Amino acid sequence: MGPGSANVILVGFMGAGKSAVGRLLARRLDLCFVETDDMIVAREGKPIPEIFAERGETYFRALEAEVLDLLAEKRGHVIATGGGFPCRDGVMERLKRLGTVVWLDGDFDRLYARAQRSGDRPMLAGRSREDLLALYRQREAYYARADARVDTSHLGVDAVVGQILRLLGERQRSAGAERMRARPPDSRA
Ligand code: S3P
Repeated sequence: MGPGSANVILVGFMGAGKSAVGRLLARRLDLCFVETDDMIVAREGKPIPEIFAERGETYFRALEAEVLDLLAEKRGHVIATGGGFPCRDGVMERLKRLGTVVWLDGDFDRLYARAQRSGDRPMLAGRSREDLLALYRQREAYYARADARVDTSHLGVDAVVGQILRLLGERQRSAGAERMRARPPDSRA
């Protein structure tokens, strides 16, 4: 896969490892890496917790919608999205037009523990485990529309990247076979 080809888009709940996996995956595929959260931070000139504190979640979601428009120009990128990014009607369909969408999932309690350990996440503030579980359940229906799902529960970053590389390879092979089948017999080499 080269820089001229389609994108790989990572979606999933907080703590799924989208950033770490995305960075390594981009290196392995020789693609650029971008995070929707970083695009928002660059646009606003302030960190995510400050955006939430000063303008609230609704404003942040509007910024995500603007970033979605900007993603249409990306080719040959690995794109890591924020946990809530694909969880509105129509977003997943648009992401799937930009490339292969991979859902990094896992056992909820592992995701929750990881999310609490790293980063300053405003969606965790003032919410109990039960609140977050309810949010995860709500979001699952959106994530499930991804092209593929990888269960990260028992895998390190390297192994998750290995699985994604394998499934991208399989998708490329089956798309190639599909193209061969679609060609008229006399045009086959
Ligand atoms: C959010 C997840 C965060 C970030 C923001 C909101 C969410 O990204 O976009 O704090 O609603 O789940 P990560 O999934 O990378 O933590």
